Amino acid sequence: MGRLDGKVAVVTGAAGVLCSVMTESLLRDGAKVVLADLNEDHAKVLQKTLAGQGLGETLALGVNVLERGSLEVARDATLAKWGRIDILVNGAGGNHPKGTCPAEQFVEGTKLEDSFFGLDLAGFEFVNKLNFIGSLLPAQVFCQAMLKTGGSVINISSMSATQPLTKVAAYSAAKAAIDNFTRWLAVHLAPANIRVNAIAPGFFITQQNRFLMLEQDGKTLTARGQKVINKTPMHRFGDPKDLCGALTYLVSDEASFVTGVVIPVDGGFLAYSGV
Ligand SMILES: NC(=O)c1ccc[n+]([C@@H]2O[C@H](COP(=O)([O-])OP(=O)(O)OC[C@H]3O[C@@H](n4cnc5c(N)ncnc54)[C@H](O)[C@@H]3O)[C@@H](O)[C@H]2O)c1
Repeated sequence: MGRLDGKVAVVTGAAGVLCSVMTESLLRDGAKVVLADLNEDHAKVLQKTLAGQGLGETLALGVNVLERGSLEVARDATLAKWGRIDILVNGAGGNHPKGTCPAEQFVEGTKLEDSFFGLDLAGFEFVNKLNFIGSLLPAQVFCQAMLKTGGSVINISSMSATQPLTKVAAYSAAKAAIDNFTRWLAVHLAPANIRVNAIAPGFFITQQNRFLMLEQDGKTLTARGQKVINKTPMHRFGDPKDLCGALTYLVSDEASFVTGVVIPVDGGFLAYSGV
């Protein structure tokens, strides 16, 4: 018996580096999982890979978390196939160079275009919207299907929510909004027995941060990557599997009285001042 037997989960951004591993974990615990990703091809490839491991209870859908219609189609397809939705993992998100300012600080000689003053508003809005509205809108659409049964929402926060990282202004603002929204929605939906929590991953090498952490050879740490390792008391990047314990706990009945929390899974990053 898996601890999530009978449960149906929707994972947005399921084809991504972190969420594909979290998806596998949910399946191994017995849940049926909707692989909802903007990149339908990647979702289908993941579906095949999982099926090859005997994890066949999946539905792969092309879904844009920023389009209500697309989310509603996914919700209806899930209900038509499995009749219920118990878990939503808001995994779609990430940083993007177009919402990032190259200079860490504005020092003498910093070019305006490399600083805050050069941040492109469209790029800022793209990153901010994907990371905040891209969790709010799916919660609106999928939680409606949980109103009679109760359920659980997992948002994905970041170290940058509480300790804003240099360069990533839009991402930091959006993830801070995620922490706030997690608590707000937890309060709002508690009477409906829908729990809302978040996981704040430390540093994991994925597409969204590779350009910031590793040189072009894909191995050598950038100066920024080295700083991250120095400030992580466990002195390593996370392995996506490190996230699965917190995920399993938060979506299972063991956390039935837990709502509105953000759990860091960060090798001690947030605990360490760096000194
Ligand atoms: N990698 C890290 O170190 C780290 C740290 C903290 C938080 N996070 C967060 O973890 C979450 C997962 O990120 P990841 O590292 O697995 O990233 P990733 O880039 O590997 O995956 C993101 C996935 O989201 C999908 N996606 C993008 N836009 C979408 C949209 N509009 N609608 C639906 N799907 C969309 C992409 O196709 C991709 O499959 C993100 O919220 C990210 O901000 C990552």
